Amino acid sequence: MACEDRQRWNERHAGAGAARPAPRAILVAATEALTPPGRALDLACGRGAEAVWLAERGWQVDAVDIADAALGAVARAAAAAGVRSQVRLVQADLDDGLPASCPGPYDLLVMGHFRSPLIESAIGRLLRPGALVVTSRLSVVGRDATGATGALDTAPAYLAAVGELRDLAERLGLEVLHWEEGTGQTALVARVARVARVAGVDPTARATRPDGGTRTGDGR
Ligand SMILES: C[S@@+](CC[C@H](N)C(=O)[O-])C[C@H]1O[C@@H](n2cnc3c(N)ncnc32)[C@H](O)[C@@H]1O
Repeated sequence: MACEDRQRWNERHAGAGAARPAPRAILVAATEALTPPGRALDLACGRGAEAVWLAERGWQVDAVDIADAALGAVARAAAAAGVRSQVRLVQADLDDGLPASCPGPYDLLVMGHFRSPLIESAIGRLLRPGALVVTSRLSVVGRDATGATGALDTAPAYLAAVGELRDLAERLGLEVLHWEEGTGQTALVARVARVARVAGVDPTARATRPDGGTRTGDGR
């Protein structure tokens, strides 16, 4: 595990205060009408804004982060919301790849403000046909020296190149439902085809529903 990364993020999360952060608007817009809820994977989940919000709506969420302080905050927020049993905490260094304890298949993959080409090349095999991908990150597009739209001093490794998320969707064979880029950020909402075209997706994969039932590719 990358110790400096974990320590740095632990300090940031610990200093963030007790208030529960709000989920990103793009996640809310993309998922609030989705029924029935299924299994979600939130990679680099932070303090659980999205993971807990999804659990409150009936999703079973695997919440992955490197930082103990982040996962502690997720646990507290989930418990306070009465959904602790629906959120599984996974501490993992995503620089090592996807955690083996999260084999999928998932109906929803969330990766908010985290950038990892290694992870992106592997997510296809976690996703069930029809699954949704909601991801965002900082971008080189729309950054300026004044910091008004995103400071230029952000390390290049954290910044998406021009068109990066649109290209990711194309590479994975995802149907783009929404893509935006500008003001120093970029976001994507995309869907796996119902008949799998994504490398590694098993079109017959069954996902377990929270009620213990199962469903196949066209079950949503
Ligand atoms: C900018 S925050 C994003 C949090 C949340 N997803 C959001 O959208 O607000 C990045 C998160 O990635 C986590 N992180 C950083 N490096 C990581 C790594 N190598 N493996 C797993 N998580 C990591 C941090 O602890 C932090 O919670």
